[in-house]
Amino acid sequence: MITIISSTNRPDSYTLRIANAYAELLDSKGIETKILPFERVMARAIENNSFDGVDEEFERLVKEYISPSDRLVVISPEYNGSFPGIFKFFIDATDPKFFRGKRVALVGVASGRAGNIRGMDHLTDVFHHMGAEVYSRKIPISRVHQMVYEDDMLSDAPTIEALEKQIEGFLKF
Ligand SMILES: Cc1cc2nc3c(=O)[nH]c(=O)nc-3n(C[C@H](O)[C@H](O)[C@H](O)COP(=O)(O)O)c2cc1C
Repeated sequence: MITIISSTNRPDSYTLRIANAYAELLDSKGIETKILPFERVMARAIENNSFDGVDEEFERLVKEYISPSDRLVVISPEYNGSFPGIFKFFIDATDPKFFRGKRVALVGVASGRAGNIRGMDHLTDVFHHMGAEVYSRKIPISRVHQMVYEDDMLSDAPTIEALEKQIEGFLKF
């Protein structure tokens, strides 16, 4: 099972649209996926689980989405030149042992031109610090609002091809 983390709590985010497209690509290869949608992760649950606190809902999310997957795909939007604070908040509230040894693929999403390349580099540093291994083929998606969507599903051929290539390599990584 591969967990796809849609790493923003912004309602109706493009990040979640890309996460859904990624799940569909993996599903078509017969790979089971789960999407951890941060919109449903309450900031309060993260806060309650921080600094030795214990929150049942937070523990349930870690048990359902992080523990059972040895591979994570993190879709991260560009917010002020990096990945969203809510995701760092989540990481900091999680025991690092849950990330150790995981293999991680990164996809950046931005309305601007950079496709969150810098934020993916920041994420790489954080994951490596925790002992997770990040796959080198990172996919920046720029101008996400201008992509082609059909019924809210990404149908932009070059972007889908780039994601397919990442998946092909990541599954061997
Ligand atoms: C707080 C915030 C900061 C943002 N900063 C940037 C930025 O630095 N560069 C950029 O290209 N887009 C920036 N954006 C726009 C997002 O890239 C855009 O909303 C895009 O759709 C991906 O985010 P989403 O998943 O929330 O939709 C920002 C958006 C928010 C909400």
